[in-house]
Amino acid sequence: MKIIVEKDYESMSKKAGKILIDTIKANPKIVLGLATGSTPIGLYKELIRSHREDDLDFSNVTTFNLDEYIGISKDHPNSYGYFMYEELFKHINIPMNNTHIPHGEAEDLEEYCKYYDDLIQSHGGIDIQVLGIGENGHIAFNEPSEYLSIGTSIVELTDNTIKANSRFFGSEGEVPKSAISMGIGGILKARKIILLASGETKAPIIGKLLRTKGISTMIPASFLLLHPNVTVIVDEAAYKEMR
Ligand code: F6R
Repeated sequence: MKIIVEKDYESMSKKAGKILIDTIKANPKIVLGLATGSTPIGLYKELIRSHREDDLDFSNVTTFNLDEYIGISKDHPNSYGYFMYEELFKHINIPMNNTHIPHGEAEDLEEYCKYYDDLIQSHGGIDIQVLGIGENGHIAFNEPSEYLSIGTSIVELTDNTIKANSRFFGSEGEVPKSAISMGIGGILKARKIILLASGETKAPIIGKLLRTKGISTMIPASFLLLHPNVTVIVDEAAYKEMR
């Protein structure tokens, strides 16, 4: 695991942005794995800036998102589909057909999970996967538990995650209780992984992750230790416990 510590959220986002921009320039047909949440917004702003100022071309880029809530429509302002459109897709020249978000309203969700994994593989797999991390160590919506899913699956959100995500909804009661999420095995299939963490609330889990001696299903992000090409980019605040 390569660790990069940046001063603040802005420089963390710029650093991650540069890695992605350089890779897209080198491989315009790249397959990106994308995350939602507060953390990657600055990175997406960097991609938009590069598209506007340097003509960074997304016309051949393909994207797959990690997860989506079950029980809210894709047009709901808190759906991850809506988030991706507002924060990235509508500002760049990516054909919407090239973007993929798990379909939380699929009729047969179990069948759909298999289809989503197959779809990723039919595009040659993910070249770079962007990840955030939950305060409880979740990546995508793989929550700490005795077993972690290998492929895309339906997951129940923990109280901790519902509480953390309630900031985007009116109240905790409005946060969906379940989601479709790529599994740990799917994430580990990506050729390169970039995990971002910013702010003091992430300091305890970043400390735990970087100090852990092995893997534990109770720290889902610890499975990244099995991957040969992971870069963790954090800001000073998230790195606080390692000083
Ligand atoms: C979102 C996702 C989640 C978030 C995590 C951190 O697609 O997969 O694992 O990355 O919950 O969220 P933020 O960035 O809002 O702190």
